[in-house]
Amino acid sequence: MKQEDMTIVRQRQLAPRIFEMTLKGELVSQMTTPGQFLHLRVPQQAFLLRRPISINHVDLAKKECRIIYRVEGEGTEIFSHLTTGDLLDVMGPLGNGFQFHHLTPGETVFVVGGGIGVPPLYELSKQLRQRQINVIHFLGFASKDVMYYEAEFKALGDTRIATDDGSYGVKGNVGNVLMAAAQTPAAVFACGNNGLLKTVAQLYEALDDVQLSMEARMACGMGACYACVCHTKEDETGVKSVKVCDEGPVFQARKVVI
Ligand SMILES: Cc1cc2nc3c(=O)[nH]c(=O)nc-3n(C[C@H](O)[C@H](O)[C@H](O)COP(=O)(O)OP(=O)(O)OC[C@H]3O[C@@H](n4cnc5c(N)ncnc54)[C@H](O)[C@@H]3O)c2cc1C
Ligand code: FES
Repeated sequence: MKQEDMTIVRQRQLAPRIFEMTLKGELVSQMTTPGQFLHLRVPQQAFLLRRPISINHVDLAKKECRIIYRVEGEGTEIFSHLTTGDLLDVMGPLGNGFQFHHLTPGETVFVVGGGIGVPPLYELSKQLRQRQINVIHFLGFASKDVMYYEAEFKALGDTRIATDDGSYGVKGNVGNVLMAAAQTPAAVFACGNNGLLKTVAQLYEALDDVQLSMEARMACGMGACYACVCHTKEDETGVKSVKVCDEGPVFQARKVVI
């Protein structure tokens, strides 16, 4: 099993309830595919289930990785109080990430994220740029206050932002910004809530390569408990459902029912 007590190098707050944590350890050498996630043990006896959080950035040379998470309940609240030097029990990297090795330099892809679905797209975009793929980012946030990583994404390419309340960028959801894009991309990569994933799947129905990172409540995180199943388009009765944790979280839009 891929498990390690990783050391927290840094933790900083990016926005209300949103934190960036940098972890160091040997597991980092395996974190090569963007879109994979870490399964984190909450460091208190009462919490049995781990929390799945996506990998946001990897520095193989320093053996460091970053995660960005929003405080939602007790587990993430406890993570937010950890500090430099503390250890965190990490399992991973888990799941199947985004596939992009078939793309050729000079092609343009769309990277679409919403809210707390944005973090894994940063490492994806970094690796796409390393392969000379042109990336256009479409990012949606509830408001300017909870927006983060704008400068980081801008450093990698064209970045278009929407906020629900219109406090920054285009008013409305990220679908509004996508609809204004004139280009047809070679592929679309998306991570966010089901509303965002549905919009992306509908807008790019005709495109062969639309990869969506699905979210599901998880328990084991390793394919053993079936807590995280999602229905497939070939069989909506659920008999042939797929497990988000070990068959995903990234699926082709044409395969899954959102
Ligand atoms: C593949 C994947 C990647 C994710 N990446 C990120 C990320 O990068 N940043 C981020 O902020 N959040 C991410 N999430 C959501 C994150 O896992 C939950 O917000 C977190 O588990 C909530 O834990 P909690 O103890 O604070 O909340 P509680 O509501 O107290 O959690 C109770 C239980 O429900 C589970 N749970 C609650 N919400 C979710 C959820 N949305 N998805 C899965 N399990 C949930 C928890 O793991 C826990 O077992 C991801 C989820 C998945 C499935
Ligand atoms: S969380 Fe157990 S099978 Fe996916």
